[in-house]
Amino acid sequence: MRRIILAGNWKMNQTPSQAQVLLEELKNSLPATKHTVAVFPPYLALTQAVAAGEPFLVGAQNCHFEDKGAFTGEISLPMLSEIGVKAVIVGHSERRQYFGETDETVNKKTLAVLRAGLIPVICIGETLPQRESGAYAEVLKGQLCAALSGVSAQQVPYVVIAYEPVWAIGTGVTASAQQAEEVCAMLREQLGLLYDADRALQVSILYGGSMNAGNAASLLEMENIDGGLIGGASLKPAEFAAIVQAANDVKEARV
Ligand code: 13P
Repeated sequence: MRRIILAGNWKMNQTPSQAQVLLEELKNSLPATKHTVAVFPPYLALTQAVAAGEPFLVGAQNCHFEDKGAFTGEISLPMLSEIGVKAVIVGHSERRQYFGETDETVNKKTLAVLRAGLIPVICIGETLPQRESGAYAEVLKGQLCAALSGVSAQQVPYVVIAYEPVWAIGTGVTASAQQAEEVCAMLREQLGLLYDADRALQVSILYGGSMNAGNAASLLEMENIDGGLIGGASLKPAEFAAIVQAANDVKEARV
């Protein structure tokens, strides 16, 4: 059965010493849960996050798709894997927008993360003009298919998809639960077409975009939303704890 995942994407926030404080505060605030709690701190705080231990599954916010070589400033999967990182965010819209990530690099990274035995958290999302024009469904299907090109049926249950509408990220505007569920159901249907219905049911599909303590329960109640990729609210221990509690309240534990 697919996992319920509450994941904090810290983005470019928290120096190592600040990260240490936040990790301790999170540990003290989070309710016990059967769900997966993940943190994606900046590279320089990954070792500390791994050392913090339970309950955190630790992921990186990016990686390079080659194992090593002349790629100044990049971080490879063997480096991440060696320090205990278990997941990598791939294709976040901020990386697509500001750092030139394309569907092609997202695909290369997805394949590399799977090859390394880690979990790719593949982000897809439409812009406001794409939503308003009604083209979003085609845009999202295109991003999904491109990201998964070459991913086998055996590998796909290890993939996590994050639906993050660009217009909802960091804006305080959240997709309504119905809007998010409509897309997540469509993505699962598309996974069923690309693979098969059983495999589609095993893939965790997260929602991201201004998720917070106030709206988490209504989003997480939706059948096809298997958790959240949370930015701003994940830096506030009480708020992140409330989101984990909302998942405890509305989602049955799955092992
Ligand atoms: P916010 O929760 O700050 O809108 O960020 C969402 C996000 O981009 C998570 O990856």
